[in-house]
Amino acid sequence: MTPHTPTAPWPVRTRRLTLRPATLDDLPAIGAYRRIPEVSTWLPTAPRTAEDHVAHISAQPERLEKTLVIELDSAVIGDLYLSVEDAWGQAEVAENARSTKAEVGWCLDPAFQGQGYATEAVAGLLRVCFEDLGLRRVVALSFADNTASWRLMERLGMRREEYNVRDSLHRTGEWLDGVGYALLAEEWRDRNPAAGR
Ligand SMILES: CC(C)(COP(=O)(O)OP(=O)(O)OC[C@H]1O[C@@H](n2cnc3c(N)ncnc32)[C@H](O)[C@@H]1OP(=O)(O)O)[C@@H](O)C(=O)NCCC(=O)NCCS
Repeated sequence: MTPHTPTAPWPVRTRRLTLRPATLDDLPAIGAYRRIPEVSTWLPTAPRTAEDHVAHISAQPERLEKTLVIELDSAVIGDLYLSVEDAWGQAEVAENARSTKAEVGWCLDPAFQGQGYATEAVAGLLRVCFEDLGLRRVVALSFADNTASWRLMERLGMRREEYNVRDSLHRTGEWLDGVGYALLAEEWRDRNPAAGR
């Protein structure tokens, strides 16, 4: 396995936001919105309190390493997930597939939703993935019922590649449909012709 500490020119600034790697000190602010039921219903974990989130992530340094925060006026309003991974390749060329793709994810404090902040932050993250990290493919997954999340992917030009029927077990006990989206570096460059110049 490849170690996954992405090196990029952090902090990265977008029009209104700053993106930077999360630290332990950010966890209470992140937990404060991740514990809200309408947020956690779509997330892998549902902390009851901000402190639960702090304890959960503090115990997993590798998860913290894959977390970025979204700041607006120096306040944390959301977080991003960035996991650089090896793509699959046949044995003879597997080395060339190492660290060529990323899975990304996102979560925004509901108080800041509906203003384009997530779109702006994820656009910045995609720019990092393709321009700074030189990745060739970025993927994202969500429950099919999480319309806000897959609409965000589509706003950014990501392509729906998977619709998986009842493949994901929700904590309610219900098996839900899942969707998978992807974007290739050349597709991103086509949408951002000034990139890389
Ligand atoms: C997924 C999530 C980040 C999307 O948040 P969001 O607020 O819809 O996304 P944005 O911040 O980009 O805002 C887009 C909305 O603002 C509007 N908007 C306003 N100004 C805008 C601007 N300058 N640029 C883009 N959109 C703008 C858009 O029209 C859109 O509204 P609409 O959905 O009514 O069309 C959010 O729902 C969330 O955190 N959910 C809980 C966690 C979660 O589900 N994570 C993903 C797990 S897979």
